[in-house]
Amino acid sequence: MNLTDLNKVALAMVTPGKGILAADESSGTIKKRFDAIRVESTEDNRRDYREMLFRSQEAMSKYISGVILYDETIWQNAKDGTPLVKLIEESGAIPGIKVDEGTQALPNCPGELVTVGLDKLAERLKKYYERGARFAKWRAVIDIGAGIPSMTAISVNAHALARYAALCQNAQIVPIVEPEVLMDGDHDIDRCYDVTQRVLNKTFQELRVQRVALEGMVLKPNMAIAGKKSPKQASVQEVAEKTIRLLKSCVPAAVPGIAFLSGGQSDEEATAHLDAMNKIGGLPWRLTFSYGRALQAAPQKAWSGKTDNVPAGQRAFSHRARMNGLASTGKWAAGLEKQAA
Ligand code: 13P
Repeated sequence: MNLTDLNKVALAMVTPGKGILAADESSGTIKKRFDAIRVESTEDNRRDYREMLFRSQEAMSKYISGVILYDETIWQNAKDGTPLVKLIEESGAIPGIKVDEGTQALPNCPGELVTVGLDKLAERLKKYYERGARFAKWRAVIDIGAGIPSMTAISVNAHALARYAALCQNAQIVPIVEPEVLMDGDHDIDRCYDVTQRVLNKTFQELRVQRVALEGMVLKPNMAIAGKKSPKQASVQEVAEKTIRLLKSCVPAAVPGIAFLSGGQSDEEATAHLDAMNKIGGLPWRLTFSYGRALQAAPQKAWSGKTDNVPAGQRAFSHRARMNGLASTGKWAAGLEKQAA
């Protein structure tokens, strides 16, 4: 492992003004997104859609530091035969790859999941590196509900995240460590705070036990936020302050950067929260975005599967990328959204 190079890549992923495009939807997830815009989820349509994003010159060169790909996409070529990975590299962004293989029911823990995909991971990482991937992602999912999460679920998921991270660094690939506490329930922000604190503490404990170099990773957490069904929604300022307090208490300063998931927040909420945190400032790590839905909902709608709509889709993507790029340095303002509209 060359830690200097891993650290360089990790820092590049969280370059001020830029963030990560999570375009790594599995076949099942992208089908759901395409169903919503009435587009058939064929291999060609998935390619055309992602090619549209990666050819968005303004977004990709100015606001996107890296792109997380799904296995299908990393091997795909653009319509003209250029590998999609090349398009990303030529735009100046770094290609990355989702390497977990989804979740399975966790035995003895009803309603809880464990992320799988460690078997043969070392071999797979080698092939992804050869294809151009310089970072990877593994997502653990922790749900909040009556009597959950259990310590068992937190512990096995943290263990798997650390196993994955160690394997990545050995393959000279920067691991994005993503322990996602879901915002699906009706819990309030303080319950999310408590659960996320337990999850992050356990995750960093496992990372230490398994000798993962913190300088060579990026953390991708949820924010401290109320569940979508909670009657008690928190203000932007409360989300920002509590998330910062939480991260400061759990995330060592050796970690170069934190790139949030959007997790089902609206586009503008996800931007406003990131912006408010960066306005607080004085942080030991860089704070940016690694959004999937909050970057892609608008371009998906604008595109709707029609070639004629590609410029509109690219404009919508560039707009969200720019808004989040500004938020990554605390320079966003709600007025900028309306101006563009
Ligand atoms: P969302 O921003 O849609 O939550 O997706 C980010 C991601 O990569 C989840 O694993």
